Amino acid sequence: MSAILVTGGAGFVGLNLVEALLARGEQVVVFGQEAALPAPAGEVFASLPGRLEVVTGDVRDAAALAAVFVSHRIDRVFPFAAITAGPAREAASPGLVLDVNLHGVIATLAGARDAGTVRRVVLPASSAVYGDSAYDHDWLDEVTTPCMPISLYGVTKYAVERAGLRLAGLWGLDAVAARIGATYGPWERDTGLRDTLSPHLAIFQAALRGGVAILPPAPLPRYDWVYVKDLVAGLLALLDCTDPPGRVFNIASAQDWSPHVAACCDGLAAEMPGFTWRHAVDGESPNIPFNETRSRGLMAIDRARSLGWAPRFAPEGAYADYAAWLRQMDGRFVAVASQPQG
Ligand SMILES: NC(=O)c1ccc[n+]([C@@H]2O[C@H](COP(=O)([O-])OP(=O)(O)OC[C@H]3O[C@@H](n4cnc5c(N)ncnc54)[C@H](O)[C@@H]3O)[C@@H](O)[C@H]2O)c1
Repeated sequence: MSAILVTGGAGFVGLNLVEALLARGEQVVVFGQEAALPAPAGEVFASLPGRLEVVTGDVRDAAALAAVFVSHRIDRVFPFAAITAGPAREAASPGLVLDVNLHGVIATLAGARDAGTVRRVVLPASSAVYGDSAYDHDWLDEVTTPCMPISLYGVTKYAVERAGLRLAGLWGLDAVAARIGATYGPWERDTGLRDTLSPHLAIFQAALRGGVAILPPAPLPRYDWVYVKDLVAGLLALLDCTDPPGRVFNIASAQDWSPHVAACCDGLAAEMPGFTWRHAVDGESPNIPFNETRSRGLMAIDRARSLGWAPRFAPEGAYADYAAWLRQMDGRFVAVASQPQG
């Protein structure tokens, strides 16, 4: 039986992807630095119909990757391992960020080429590829909006997309690239390798400990978050589609989340005893990081919609679903992140 390789599969997006793949009965191989999935994920995934194997390794180790392709008859690949570096990390370790984010993906593609069994690769690009263009375009379109990444992370994501599609073409691989919008939801956790955890995670952490969430002053800048369950449905659509109408796809919500955050927090406060929230006033310091101070254009998703995919969650529904998931986990997965106490 053939299997799907997910590098970085123990990370936030990876866990959601692996769960969805196992739920539909796939055989999945997670390749990453972790020796195992977080224990609660391992417990939940054990009841799903698919089969999971975790292989510990580094995506900079081409030989280890090549061995996985051969030993597990890999036929589809999500090369998702990455370091989401903030300014301090990109300044301190630029070579590491390039090595993992770009060379790690190229090594994975080379493994796919040599195995000769792979029929689809879904490359992990990001809304960060739009960079400066996000601030002077209302809509960010895969074809017409110039990519002007700012951060080293964004530069590597654009390089992954362009180099990945180029090499796939040269090497006879069928690849598509997902420009993934900023995501939050179940299984989000601090892997120590992502410096831009979502504000929603910090809000839920404050809610879980019955604290106070202090958001940046109102109004929040325009920002189109996507709930991770919608993201994963989009990634599966890219995995499965035949004759895609392009090679690069925005996977996002196409909806400004910011005007809804107040209602989302009110909904949480009604359910979570002790939790309160407010916008910072009079120079007060927020304890919820928003990762963005300027309004951004929204990512257009017409091309992804043409695959038959569409986001299902509006912000309030996503918050309610995330809260229900945490209740269902019953304390088995309390996300840990290095956020200030509320
Ligand atoms: N979370 C988002 O909002 C978002 C947005 C756009 C794109 N993406 C992309 O999705 C992918 C997953 O991101 P995430 O948010 O789940 O990050 P994450 O930090 O939660 O997970 C990253 C995973 O990659 C693994 N990894 C890192 N370096 C490695 C190495 N050298 N060898 C092997 N494994 C390594 C980590 O151990 C971790 O399991 C990335 O490619 C990222 O660029 C995520």
